Parts: sequence; C-alpha cells; structure tokens
Amino acid sequence: MRQGTGSGPVRAVLIGAGNRGKDVYGAWAARNPDKMRIVAVADIDPARRAAAASEHGLPAALAFGDWRDLVAAGRAGSVEAEACLVCTQDAQHVEPALGALGAGWHVLLEKPMATTPGDCLRLVEASEGAGLQLRICHVVRYTPFFGAVKAAIDGGAIGTPIHISHQENVSFWHFGHSYVRGAWGRAADSTPIVLAKTCHDLDILHWLAGRPAARVSSFGGLSWYRRGNAPEGAPGRCVETCPIYEQCLWNVEDLYGSGERILRVGRRADNPIVRAVAGAAAVGARLGRTLGGGGWKAWPATVLMGGRGRAGKEEALLRGQYGRCVFACDNDQVDHQVVSIEFEGGLTSTMTMEGLSNLDGRTIRIDGSEGTLEGRFTYAGERLELWEHRRMKKRVLHRSGLTGNPHGGGDQGLVASFADSLRGRQEAEALTSGRASLESHLMGFAAERARLEGRVVGMDELRAIRLSVDPALPSGL
Ligand SMILES: NC(=O)c1ccc[n+]([C@@H]2O[C@H](COP(=O)([O-])OP(=O)(O)OC[C@H]3O[C@@H](n4cnc5c(N)ncnc54)[C@H](O)[C@@H]3O)[C@@H](O)[C@H]2O)c1
Repeated sequence: MRQGTGSGPVRAVLIGAGNRGKDVYGAWAARNPDKMRIVAVADIDPARRAAAASEHGLPAALAFGDWRDLVAAGRAGSVEAEACLVCTQDAQHVEPALGALGAGWHVLLEKPMATTPGDCLRLVEASEGAGLQLRICHVVRYTPFFGAVKAAIDGGAIGTPIHISHQENVSFWHFGHSYVRGAWGRAADSTPIVLAKTCHDLDILHWLAGRPAARVSSFGGLSWYRRGNAPEGAPGRCVETCPIYEQCLWNVEDLYGSGERILRVGRRADNPIVRAVAGAAAVGARLGRTLGGGGWKAWPATVLMGGRGRAGKEEALLRGQYGRCVFACDNDQVDHQVVSIEFEGGLTSTMTMEGLSNLDGRTIRIDGSEGTLEGRFTYAGERLELWEHRRMKKRVLHRSGLTGNPHGGGDQGLVASFADSLRGRQEAEALTSGRASLESHLMGFAAERARLEGRVVGMDELRAIRLSVDPALPSGL
C-alpha cells in the first residue's frame, strides 16, 4: 500500500459535511492545521456546505454541492488534494469512495463500508488495485481502552482466551434519537443495526480474537419502540399536546433542550464540567423551553441544527423526523440483538446490543486459562481490570474518568493515524484498512442472515462472495 511521501499538512477534501464529516473529522483538521487541511468540501445541503466552507476558510469555488462535481474537479486538476474523507450516509459510501480513489486520493471512509458484502469487497479490491489507502472508521480500535485490552491479551495476561462476552449498551435516549427517530431507524434506508451500530463491536471481537470467525448465529427483535407501546392518547409528535410529555423518557426537551437525559445517563449529572457545558437553563412554554437560549448545543442537538442553529432545531422538532413520538415512527431496527460467534480454534464470543440501557458504552469480560479481564468503556468513564487466577488478585490496567471525549479518543486517534500514515509516520498496514475491516463486515452480514433465517451461518458462505462487477475503477462518473 502506498504510504505518503509529501510534507506539511495532508491536503484533504471532505465529502459529506454532516455530523461526522464536519463536526468530528473537519473539526479535528481545524484544530490540527499542521496535520491536515481541508481544501475543498462537497455537501448537497447548502447550510452545511456553507458552515463547513466558512470553518475551513474556503472560497465558493471550492465548496461543491454534489460529490460528483468535487471528484470531477479533482480529476480535472482544479482541486489539488491527496486524501478524501467520505462521510455520507451508509447507503452512499460506495460510489463516492470509488470516485475518490479514481481521482487518485487516499480514502478515509465511514463505517459501514457498504450495504452488501460484494460492494465491501469491491472497495477493498479497488483501493488495493490502485495502491491507495482505504481506511475504515472503526474508531474504537484507536481508543486507549481497547488498545489496553488488546495488549493484555496479546501479552498473555489471561493465558489462552476461552470466551469473550461483550455488550454494546445503547442508552434509551441514544437509541430513540438515532435508531428510532434518526437516520438509522429503518434498516433498508441505512443498514441493519448489526452493521450500522455494532459493526464496531464485531470488529473489536475479530481484532481481539486475532483469528477469523467460523460460524455465527443471532437472535433479536423490535420489542419496545413500536406503536402498541404508545401511551394512551399520545399524539404523533412530541411537542404537540402529549398528555405524558413531562414524564416521557424521550421528550425532546430533555434531549435537545436542556440535555438533561444526556447529563444523567450518557455522562454524569453531578459532574461540574458537564454541567458547565450544558449552558443556559431553558424556561418558558414547551417549544420555547426546548429552544430557549439555544439550549443544549452539543451532539445530538447538532444533528437537528444542521449548521442552522436554533432555526434548524425548530424545523426538526416542529416538522422534521426528530419531533416524532418514539412510538409513532416508521422504524424497524431491532432494539435488542444477541450474536454468538465461534472463531477458528474454538474461541467463542457473545455480542449483545440493547437499546434501553442506563449506560452508553461497552462492557466486556474475557475469560482465559490464566485470568479474566473485565472492562467498562462508557462516556462516564473507563476501567479495565485484570484478575489473575494464580495470585487470586485483581489489578487495574487502565482507568480514565469522564473526558467528554466521544468514542473515548478513538475519533481523534483514527484521523491522526490516517494523516500520519500519509507522511510515512505509521505502520505499513493500517489498523483499520479496508482489508482488515472486511472480515468484521462479513461477520455482520452473516449475523443478519442468521437472525432473519433462524440458522447458524458458516462464514465460508460469506467468504464465497465474488465481485459482481469489474474491480477496475470507473473511468468516468
Ligand atoms: N465511526 C463512527 O463511530 C460513526 C458514528 C456515527 C456515524 N457514523 C457513520 O458516518 C456516516 C455519516 O453519518 P453522519 O451522522 O455524519 O450523517 P449526516 O447525515 O449528518 O451527514 C451526511 C452528509 O452527507 C451529505 N450528502 C448527502 N448526499 C450527498 C451528495 N450527493 N454529495 C455530497 N454530500 C452529500 C448530507 O447532506 C449530509 O450533510 C454514516 O455512514 C454513519 O453510519 C460513524
């Protein structure tokens, strides 16, 4: 794989200036101008495009609408870049990523790579054929917490690993925001949640296991976020005259107005730093209260604002998808799922996801012949403990308090590693290259197939996929 040889900050273009593109990777570039500069942007939403262009000081000529225009400008030589951050939605990853590779750019691509196994393979082969990097945003691998888990296993701390029990706890408010009201509410419009959310977890399991999966089974369903569970008399929209608004766990004021739910569950209500971030207290009538003083300005409110501040929030709550009652949406994602995996050599693992948790984050337990690792990786803090069977003692391997840093530092770790690799400051094979990420995507497709068809799926079935199209990069757009 071609490593960068240039000098100075990496010149990158951004496709999709939404939450991930603008607020995470774009913001990182703005804070680290010595490492990366965003030299052009494409977003079909004019407000997001303008906000991103202004943040990076770009003239109108370098702020494109559709990604195809940006790629065409790259091919024509009117945009000079070496990397492209592809941050469009799940179903819109393949074409822009192929277009960017075709323009000769290394690609940082959001997960999941694609919505079909064939398209995942197509991306991997296209990048390898072009000798360009394809880096997948499996950010969890770049966290100090999971780095410590991996180092402990590989260093023999628990002897031979026998079983990994891993849980992805999605808090009730986070699930309601993203997987009921939000962009991932319908599997067909995005990807099944085992790819949209827990592809990170399957990727971590594959990485920790250090070997390929052999067989996969899965169960799960949508039990809570459905019409039959709506309180009597609840209207379809939250800010209207809902009779249980004040008591409802998903009322939009607590989530997007005061941020109360996030403070209490996702983070810690008693932490003074978090309290300070919360900003002005909201007062007044129902909608006014939610929007009062702008209210909560951090994620997930940023998703509603979409670069338009209070006006964006108002529009999203009054007429958009985020004002809907969580029991009256068109969602079909499962709200609990268990995946069982047998890895080659007999190591087993369970991965559980549920969307009604008091926690936001992962809990993990790994039992081995010589000891047990137990860890908690949440927004409210991280802790990893090693129990050694022979000494009958426990010791802490990693600890971190509340940082306010989403994804435990993984977002920053990923993009910094990508930039460094383009300056020859990284290992030859990226931690989350397309090739390294392909296997865990195939595990996700296998799990969904197993759940839907009620059977154990052998990974050979998935590995047998072949490209349905020529892997050569498109010559035009
Ligand atoms: N790595 C992670 O931990 C993580 C976390 C959250 C989301 N994601 C993934 O990141 C991706 C983006 O998520 P998001 O929340 O930022 O989405 P988003 O909807 O906020 O942003 C996507 C942007 O793409 C733009 N867009 C759509 N069509 C376009 C086109 N033709 N040309 C140019 N721009 C176009 C949209 O206008 C929007 O601004 C998704 O695939 C999601 O699953 C990854």
